[in-house]
Amino acid sequence: MRAVNKIFDSNDARCISRNKLPRLIYDFIEGATGREVAPIENLKAFDEIKLLPRALRDVSQCNTSTVFLGQTFGLPFGIAPMGMCNLAFSKADTIMAKAAKKWNFPHGISTASSTDIKDLYNICEDNAWFQLYLFSGVESGMRLVNAAQSVGCNTLILTVDVPQGSRRMRELRNGFQVPFKMGLSQFVDLATHPTWTIRTIFNGIPKPVLINQSEDRFDRKAPRPGATWEFLEKIRMIWKGRIIVKGVLSTEDAVRVKALGADAIWVSNHGGRQLDAAPPAINVLPRIREALGNEYPLAFDSGIRDGSDIVKALAKGANFVFLGRPILHSLAAAGDVGLEKILSILSEDIKVVMAQLGINRVEEINSSVLAGE
Ligand SMILES: Cc1cc2nc3c(=O)[nH]c(=O)nc-3n(C[C@H](O)[C@H](O)[C@H](O)COP(=O)(O)O)c2cc1C
Repeated sequence: MRAVNKIFDSNDARCISRNKLPRLIYDFIEGATGREVAPIENLKAFDEIKLLPRALRDVSQCNTSTVFLGQTFGLPFGIAPMGMCNLAFSKADTIMAKAAKKWNFPHGISTASSTDIKDLYNICEDNAWFQLYLFSGVESGMRLVNAAQSVGCNTLILTVDVPQGSRRMRELRNGFQVPFKMGLSQFVDLATHPTWTIRTIFNGIPKPVLINQSEDRFDRKAPRPGATWEFLEKIRMIWKGRIIVKGVLSTEDAVRVKALGADAIWVSNHGGRQLDAAPPAINVLPRIREALGNEYPLAFDSGIRDGSDIVKALAKGANFVFLGRPILHSLAAAGDVGLEKILSILSEDIKVVMAQLGINRVEEINSSVLAGE
């Protein structure tokens, strides 16, 4: 049976991805920091939220489209920015950009992308949102910002939860680094996954193309100098489009980010990849919503695995949500058809959950759909 036909949910995609990818790559995607408590807690926190089914309502007009930051999208979710996606499947960045165009949702393009922003912008235009990290100081960050602006990007995601790369045990144990270091264990790992290895060599081993390799060291664990409140103020003055600040969990920080003129805040614990003791992002979302008021745009990610999680995040105060690992696993499992399959599953799943809740429009999702509130 073709792998794509075995995908019925994001966990199926993850299991197939685990078999298909070299361990080095699967662990880079699935892994987190410390003892990996945070990603488990993210999922548990979603399981603990319950939705209240409603009876006898006409749900024949169910529509998953929604407006976020003045832009209309076909779905209430998009793809979170992720570095080195082409490691999951060759040309994954391009496949995701095409999906963002077709389904009409935002596609986060990471600073550590292995495809040029211009090529991705040309495919999905205003759905191409550039994500910025400072790898080597303010100057090179500004160069990236100008490059993104000059290709036409109008949305900048400033990631603020990586003051320094975290210690990820799986990556340390596997000797994962970019560019690859090839020792005996890595050789055996790649040799025992020949389909992935041959495809990847044939299409070119991915590397982060936006970072100038001669000037900017791609050392994920190095401190990221210059990513401060002053930098946010500076970016706000330079960037003409919308700015979303990603990786906020503290209410106090959220209030300050809003006051500095960011257009939206993205509540996230980076899928548990940065601080193992961080709270599940979904648990802090309602507090941040309360502090910022009902009108302020909030995006959310961390731990979303199915349609009901998407609805739960919207009910807890998000206006829009993003997924990380499930997207890469669907690509690793079955390439473009794998991604298409998971997007169809998620979109169908949202509709089924909305029908249970007796609602037809994404805007109707609020705390009233939660059981026991
Ligand atoms: C392989 C991988 C690479 C990532 N790279 C980035 C990145 O370059 N920039 C960023 O802001 N977040 C990055 N993230 C975090 C995601 O944007 C997102 O916050 C997280 O994956 C959401 O959690 P989830 O995987 O549980 O959906 C990465 C996540 C993964 C899994």
